[in-house]
This record gives sequence, structure tokens and C-alpha cells, in this order.
Amino acid sequence: MFITRVWILLLCYSLVFFPTNSASTELLSDLMLFLKKQVKLALFVCWDEDKSFKFLRKMLQAPQVHFVQLKSVAVENIAILDTPEPHQHLAVIDISCPGSGKFLAEAQYRIYNKIRWVLWNENGYEKKTNGGDEQEDVIFRSVAGLPVTGLSEVYYFSVERGETVIKDVYRRSVMMDLDSSVVGVWRNGTIEDKRWTQSVVMRRRNLQKLPIKTSLVYTINYTLSHFGDFENTGVDSIPRTSYLLLDTLFTYYLNATMEKRFVTTWGYPDHTTGIWNGMSGELIYHHSEAAGTMLRITQNRLLKMEYAKMPIPLRIKFIFKAPNLSETSNIFQMPFDFSVWMCTLALVAITATVFAVVHGVLMLRRKNSIRNRYIEMLNAAYDIIPVATQQGSLLKPKSLAQKIMIFVSLAGLMFIEVSFSAKIISLIQAPSKKINSIRNLVESRLELGTDGQPYNFYFSKASDPVGIELYKRITNRNADTLNAYDTEQGVRKLQTELFAYHGFTSTLYQQISRTFNDVEKCYLRELTFFDSIGYFSVQLNFTLREHFHIGLMKMLEAGVATRLVSRMLNEKPGCTKGVMFRPLDLVDTRFAMEIAAFGILEAVCLLLAEIVLSKYTLLKHLCRTMWNRLP
Ligand SMILES: *[C@@H]1O[C@H](CO)[C@@H](O)[C@H](O)[C@H]1NC(C)=O
Ligand SMILES: *[C@@H]1O[C@H](CO)[C@@H](O)[C@H](O)[C@H]1NC(C)=O
Ligand SMILES: *[C@@H]1O[C@H](CO)[C@@H](O)[C@H](O)[C@H]1NC(C)=O
Ligand SMILES: *[C@@H]1O[C@H](CO)[C@@H](O)[C@H](O)[C@H]1NC(C)=O
Ligand SMILES: *[C@@H]1O[C@H](CO)[C@@H](O)[C@H](O)[C@H]1NC(C)=O
Repeated sequence: MFITRVWILLLCYSLVFFPTNSASTELLSDLMLFLKKQVKLALFVCWDEDKSFKFLRKMLQAPQVHFVQLKSVAVENIAILDTPEPHQHLAVIDISCPGSGKFLAEAQYRIYNKIRWVLWNENGYEKKTNGGDEQEDVIFRSVAGLPVTGLSEVYYFSVERGETVIKDVYRRSVMMDLDSSVVGVWRNGTIEDKRWTQSVVMRRRNLQKLPIKTSLVYTINYTLSHFGDFENTGVDSIPRTSYLLLDTLFTYYLNATMEKRFVTTWGYPDHTTGIWNGMSGELIYHHSEAAGTMLRITQNRLLKMEYAKMPIPLRIKFIFKAPNLSETSNIFQMPFDFSVWMCTLALVAITATVFAVVHGVLMLRRKNSIRNRYIEMLNAAYDIIPVATQQGSLLKPKSLAQKIMIFVSLAGLMFIEVSFSAKIISLIQAPSKKINSIRNLVESRLELGTDGQPYNFYFSKASDPVGIELYKRITNRNADTLNAYDTEQGVRKLQTELFAYHGFTSTLYQQISRTFNDVEKCYLRELTFFDSIGYFSVQLNFTLREHFHIGLMKMLEAGVATRLVSRMLNEKPGCTKGVMFRPLDLVDTRFAMEIAAFGILEAVCLLLAEIVLSKYTLLKHLCRTMWNRLP
């Protein structure tokens, strides 16, 4: 069952008496069937009660009408159409009623915003003798000043050569002349579809060179003369790619003319006055109708314009060279997990025991005290330490058994050591994989910087803890501005220092592929802070928004967008997974040196303690002697 309502608004300005015409109600219910999904009927008429009643009774028989509410209200009730589902409304207005002109003028955006209209001419329709042309004049006069443009669906009926023809009236833009086209012919209770497609946008796609004021962003003068070519793609790649796509759309799809206006920024509100500048300002203050450069949706822009998805990625990212692994981790520890530790210790323990036992057996031949024998055996066991650390054996092997023991231990441990060293060497060359999120980046030792483009302003707007911390890290403490470097400078810093650079990836990658060598490129990592979806935007209530929206999706479907992206936007350059042997840095051996330093420190402390102890013992002895000598 349809949840359906019919609002009958009787605009009772005058009571005109006409004979009831059953054909008119049938025509209307057939039209409702024809248009589909039209479940709410709003009738703005000035008929007498009798006629309205009969009309309603007829309409009730139409399958989609279930509920009737009779109301007699004034003009401001246009607001009855403001429901969450305007697309379900069919509004019928009798233009022969006085006051209908005023009513239509009040409708404003409702004319083109999803609601479908039927202009009913009670007088004209009844007098079938009227010629089609005369009928058209009446209709055209009634919508003369109205925005029946873009997606508007405003139908009327006219009688031509004895047949009832359903037509729609529209204009390409508010300034243009009215135009009409045949939608269907009503014959024998059905409407024969005369449209070549149901989509309004497709039917009105050809804008016939309609000029559309479009704002284009450029950040350097070079771009002004290179909007249409593929030269030096790293420069202003986003504005130029957007332009090339829209140019194709205007020329080949919409047949419209781009009236270019140039601005230097995407547009931001002034801190104090709140006045918008740049491209957003142009749209907000109606200097232009469409944006020629894609932009990000932000909270403050959201309600100021209307958007359509742009089939081009807007990649703004942090790029950095992954630091050497030794910067972030203890590479000496990494080859050892728990089981390796356990096995190594077990090996050492077993070898030590075997050493001790073999030594003990050898000593059986000599006559030694039991105590001495144990000490000797412990010493032999201790000898495993120089063996395990590959420093040679202190033990003088006397028997063949001992020689074999030492040889096997040295050889076995040597293999362990060799594999450990090999592992360390590969780790020293490896990049760190520890920086995987903005949080890791903020917590790392990497210096942060931006490309100085105006959008970086949004760093200061972050409200989450990581974003606030990031803003602190990316600002220059002394000058209280963002760290900004031009592309060349930034990429050089990227290559030589621990640095993360925020910018348009296309621009950065072009410079990177010029200056980095193939192995270095493998170290490149990306992190996204701003969402990377670019939008096309138009003035609020711009009636051609849907034309652009569908056109842009067609550009994606036809592969135009993909081709442009691959020609204009530089991707992350490929790299060779070679090993670039590099000399050891102090930082690579940090942990080894820490151990050595700790050992030396410990030895010195022990030495000091021993000295103090011996001095103390001496002193005590001295004191006692002196004490004893006292008379
Ligand atoms: C109209 O419909 C009737 C029956 O539904 C049919 O007999 C008649 O031929 C139709 N007329 C035309 C002109 O199609
Ligand atoms: C574009 O519009 C112009 C002006 O009305 C017209 O002459 C031309 O044929 C149109 N082009 C296409 C491809 O429809
Ligand atoms: C760009 O061109 C304008 C005028 O065409 C000029 O005033 C401005 O100084 C130029 N900017 C640069 C950076 O060259
Ligand atoms: C890794 O170390 C080498 C030399 O020790 C140095 O040249 C290189 O810049 C370091 N890489 C990073 C990303 O810090
Ligand atoms: C634009 O359209 C919206 C509804 O989509 C409406 O609320 C608003 O009043 C319209 N603005 C103007 C200036 O017509």
C-alpha cells in the first residue's frame, strides 16, 4: 500500500463556474502513472466545491492516491511542498486562477528543485478550439520570470491537431528565452513517450554555448599560460588537471562556454571580518557560478556551496624517507627473540658443563685435593666465556678430548656469530617500519615542514589531540608560523635529513624523481593527514549542478579522467630494491657503545669501591694498633 497523500488546496480567489470535465482528471492520473513515483499530489486551484469534489472523487480512483485532505488556505502555504521528499510531489496549479502568478513567484527554488509541476489552464483546456500556439503563449507568459531551468520539470498540456500533447517548458539559463519540447501524446488512455531518454539532464545536456562563469585557481604566474598543456606537470598540477577535465566537459559534453575568472587561492574566510576570498569567495558572493579547480570540503565551506564528486584524486600527503632502522630500534637485539636467547644460554651452559667434566676426568690422574679439583673445574667451565665470545681459549688443551671440545665449540659458535653479523649488516641497511600513522610521526624525531600553500592553514584548525600536537610540531616556535619550504628546498631536506614534507604529492614526486637515486626512492613513505577527496563546487542553488555531476561521472566512465590523471599527476616513482652499502655511523653502534660504556663505568666504580675498602681496612688496622699501644 502506498502511503499517499493528496493535498488539495483551494485557492478561492474567485468562483468560476466551469462544466466538469472528466477527461481532465483522467489525463492527470495518467500523467501520474507516466511520471512514476509521484505519490503526493498538491492541487492549487480555484474551482467551486462541486467541481473539486467530482475531481477528487475521480482522483481517488487513481492507484497512487490514498488520502485526501481538503484545505482552503492562502498563498504562503507554498511551504506545504517543503517535505523531506520533494521528489514525490506533483504540484498542479491552475494558471487561469488570479493570484497564480504571485504564487508561482513565491515558489522560487521549488520550481527547479525536484518537485514536478503541471501548469493547468482550465480556460484554455476547456475551450478545445484554441490553437496550440495561443495556448503556448499563455503558458509562456505565466512562467516568464521564473527559473524554469536546469532540472525543472514543468509540464503543460496543449491540443494539437485534435490530440492532447504533454509538453514541458524550460530555459537553458535564467537569462535565456523559453523553450518547450514534447514529452508525450495522450491517446486512448495511455501516454505515448516521446522523450528520447527519461533523464532530464541528458535531454537538456546540450547547453548551446551557454556561458558559465568559472573561477580557476593558479598559484604561480607560470600556470596562467599553461592551463591547457601537459608541460612541467609538477607545477600547479591540481588546478591544471581540474581545468583540463572541465574543459573537456564543457566542450564535448555540455557544449557550454567557460567564462574564465582567475583567482590565486582556493578561498578562506578572513579572521576578523569573516569575508571569504579566492575561489570560495567568488562562488559565495555570486561572482562566478562554478569552480574550475577542485577543492576540499571543510566544515566552514560546507553550507556555503554545493558540491559534486570530482573523479580526480586530490593527494595531499606527508612524504618522508623512512629513517634507518638503527635510528628507531636496537638492531643488536632484534635478531634475538626469546627462544634464541634460551638456546644460546643452554648451549653455553652445556658446553661449560662438558668442559668442566672433561677437565675433572683429566685431573683424576693427578693427586689433588678435592677442593682444588673443584676450583680447577670451575675455571675450566669459566673458559667457555672467551670461547663463546670468540676470543680464543685460555685453557691449554692437554688431551685430545679437550682439543676436540674446543675446536667443536669454536667452530659451532663461529657459525652462530657469522649469521648474527650477517643479520646485523642487513638490519643496518634496512629502513624502519615504525612510522605508520600521524601519531607515530608526531612522536618520532622527524622534523616536519609544509610546502607553504594556503590550505596548510587547516593545520591550525585541528581539534583532536594528535592534530593539535601535530600543529605544535609543524610550527616554527620563534616566528609562530608554519615551517614552509619551497619544493626544491624541501625535497633536498627530505633527501639528506630526518624530515617529513607535507604537500601535493604530484609536485613533490616530480622533484623527487629528478633528484633521488633509485635506491633512495624505496625508502619513501606517505602518510595522509587531510582527507584526499576533491570536490567540484558550484554556487548555492545553481540549477546546472546536476548537469556537471552527471557529466563528471561520464568523464570517469569514458576514461577521460583516468587518462588525465595518468598524464598530469605524478605517481610515486618506482625504485630498485638494491642495497646501498653505507658506512657505519656512530648512531648504528649506539647500543654496543652503551654496553661498553656501562661495563667501563662499572669497572671504575668497583675499583673505587675497592680502593675505599682497602683504605678503610688499613685505617682500621692502624687505629686498632694505635689503640692497643696506648698505655
Ligand atoms: C483504444 O482502445 C480500445 C480498447 O482498449 C481499442 O479497441 C481501440 O482500437 C483503441 N484505439 C486506438 C486508436 O488505439
Ligand atoms: C553547440 O551549440 C552551438 C550553438 O547553439 C551549436 O551550433 C552546435 O551545433 C552545438 N554543438 C553540438 C555538438 O551540439
Ligand atoms: C604575476 O603577474 C602579475 C601581473 O601579470 C604581476 O603583477 C606579478 O608580480 C607576477 N608575479 C610573479 C611572482 O611573477
Ligand atoms: C642512513 O644512514 C646514512 C649514512 O649512515 C645516511 O646517509 C642516511 O641519510 C640515513 N638515512 C636516513 C633516512 O636517515
Ligand atoms: C536554495 O535551495 C534551498 C533548498 O535546497 C533553499 O532552502 C534555499 O532557500 C534556496 N536559496 C535561495 C536563495 O533560493
